[in-house]
Amino acid sequence: MTGESRKAFLREALTATREQTLRLLDRVPEAFLRTRVHEFYSPVGWHFGHIGMTEEFWVCREASGVPPLDDRLSFLFANLPENPKEGRGELPSRAEIKDYLARTRQRTLATLETAHFDAAKPLLSGGYAWEFARQHECQHQETIAELLQLIHQTMGTGPDSPAGRVWSTSAAASAETEMISVPGGTFLMGSDDPGGYDNEKRAHPVTVAPFALDKTPVTARQWTIFLDDGGCRRPQLWTPEGWAWRCRENTLHPEYWKPGERGGFLYYGIGGLRPLHPDEPVSAVSWYEADAYARWAGKRLPTEAEWEYAAAFAPETGRRRHWPWGDPVAVCREPSADAETYADQGLRGDGPLPVGSRPRGTSALGLQDMAGGVWEWTASPFLPYPGFEAFPYDGYSKDHMDAAHFVCRGGSWATAESILRCSFRNWYVPTYRQGFLGLRCAAGTR
Ligand code: AVJ
Ligand code: FE
Repeated sequence: MTGESRKAFLREALTATREQTLRLLDRVPEAFLRTRVHEFYSPVGWHFGHIGMTEEFWVCREASGVPPLDDRLSFLFANLPENPKEGRGELPSRAEIKDYLARTRQRTLATLETAHFDAAKPLLSGGYAWEFARQHECQHQETIAELLQLIHQTMGTGPDSPAGRVWSTSAAASAETEMISVPGGTFLMGSDDPGGYDNEKRAHPVTVAPFALDKTPVTARQWTIFLDDGGCRRPQLWTPEGWAWRCRENTLHPEYWKPGERGGFLYYGIGGLRPLHPDEPVSAVSWYEADAYARWAGKRLPTEAEWEYAAAFAPETGRRRHWPWGDPVAVCREPSADAETYADQGLRGDGPLPVGSRPRGTSALGLQDMAGGVWEWTASPFLPYPGFEAFPYDGYSKDHMDAAHFVCRGGSWATAESILRCSFRNWYVPTYRQGFLGLRCAAGTR
């Protein structure tokens, strides 16, 4: 791909990404724009300014040598210890945040026109700074969508007496699910793709022993069977740390779930209370809950290597794929326009589709929903691969490679298509119940 067509691609991709960001900004209620709805996060409106600031910093300042347009806003929207989250509530108005996004974007596109991608500078090579800005924006979109769910849960948005759908979870109900036998083998884990993050590098051979993996993620209905069987009341199903967390939280069901008056559950989604579909993948469970579920089912969480092998490896070619269903045609590594027919992704609708709704995206080894739907917890802590080098800064990945975070994989219905690749790594602390994060179980000796 030539520099010109790469530029055209980045211009279009940045523009499409921004349209989604602005749609999300319009959905934030005015009363919550300056509110921190979760202790881990900044005020909701801060994330939008942070998108503009990050883009300007890496693209304009670091890659192109253009100084920032507003030093005060550059400081306010930086994620730095000198600017702690508690102090980030003095935000400009919604119109001013939009204006800051527009002005930083104008510079990002102007520098793109004159940039030399072939330069030896890693941030310029292949237009990496622009690619980084785009993927960073996509990740904050997912956090913003999560904050919308928290806002609705806080406000209790929805009908006064919600009638949950009544499901058949009688004593005879079974949470059994189809499993796929994954043959053992050696594959290249990770990716050296120029557009990938530092934590995906270097690609390195890993051998995986034969094991079995659930064909689809655990569903809401299966989760209620676990709950009805005392899943949140039997300490022997949990690790000691997990049980301590369970008692501290006094939790009896996942985050965002609300018991319906006539049984069943509802869910505080990005648009307020909605019915919880029995076949949608369970979401907003902590690593501790996922681990307890797997033990209850007589299974375990897959390791990160097992997960990636099952998603990416194609026995007929002996090679890995970029997405579970195949490889991109061009070097730009972009999904085809019909990506949504392969995966439940891109924040379409109000929640995840029922599991197995995208059979076109089935992996070569027969697993469904490995991309999109819900993120999936793995048993593995977030650690560097051999040869890892932090880029473009330690705070992106390296600072979190502390064995206190667990890896989750696969992206969700709220994830942008540009970050659904099989090598993509996400991570959270085991107590965190991210709104688009669930699990699938594995079995067999590791
Ligand atoms: C990888 C999703 C945990 O949101 O803190 C965004 C991604 N890093 N800006 C986060 C990220 C810097 C990160 N997670
Ligand atoms: Fe960020």
